[in-house]
Amino acid sequence: MAQDIKPDGVMVIGGAGQAGSDIAKLLAAKGETVSVMVRANSDRKRLEGVNVSVLTGDALVAADVDAAVMKARPRAVNNALSRPRDAWGFWANTQINITAAAKKAGVKELIYLSSVGVGDSAGAYTPEARERTKVVHAERLIAEENIKASGLAYVIIRIGSVNWYGKPATGKASLTEDRTVLGVIQYIDLAQLTVDCIGNPTYANKTWASVDPTVKRP
Ligand SMILES: NC(=O)c1ccc[n+]([C@@H]2O[C@H](COP(=O)([O-])OP(=O)(O)OC[C@H]3O[C@@H](n4cnc5c(N)ncnc54)[C@H](OP(=O)(O)O)[C@@H]3O)[C@@H](O)[C@H]2O)c1
Repeated sequence: MAQDIKPDGVMVIGGAGQAGSDIAKLLAAKGETVSVMVRANSDRKRLEGVNVSVLTGDALVAADVDAAVMKARPRAVNNALSRPRDAWGFWANTQINITAAAKKAGVKELIYLSSVGVGDSAGAYTPEARERTKVVHAERLIAEENIKASGLAYVIIRIGSVNWYGKPATGKASLTEDRTVLGVIQYIDLAQLTVDCIGNPTYANKTWASVDPTVKRP
């Protein structure tokens, strides 16, 4: 129940999604106090049997995010949201809401799942792909800059492509600061990298890209 959440845990916003649910599972398996924010009508089947506190809210509504983060009072918040098709403004507005809520609730760290192609990694995309994604990536850049300006510790993980929900981990994924890579990774390995970053000074206050040399683009 939400009222039983102990402070100092980790909150996953979008925790019913593919990446978010794997992150929540790995955190819970580590013994962390885990809360997730999901929409009232989100399908929660990926969270069945996982020891998490579920809070409901719409990440586009600042008051919902404020209430959820204030209730959970986590030490770290992970934005694992994904944008419904053609929801323009989604990336910037949801992170702006999350950052503001985190600051109010005394959160220490923000972990953001972003995309390769944003900002100084634009060169990893072909000119055609850059053109196709330019609005989305401009929004993502606003979100990244908002996090960096927050004064909170952060880790930004840019994803090239993530696939194969439910497949076992390869254990071979890593994070790189190489801005030219467009890597592909499995969900569970992305989740492990994300969990490993939380509170880890090696990864703090930097922007990374996820890679796994053992998996191939589908
Ligand atoms: N797939 C790729 O190749 C790729 C490439 C680059 C980056 N990424 C990034 O990887 C991350 C994880 O993606 P994913 O595949 O795990 O996405 P996903 O399975 O679609 O999960 C996204 C979650 O976000 C939730 N959500 C959407 N709008 C919301 C709102 N307004 N309020 C609250 N929750 C909301 C969804 O809730 P509902 O269940 O209610 O819809 C869903 O549970 C995203 O940042 C994505 O952009 C993916």
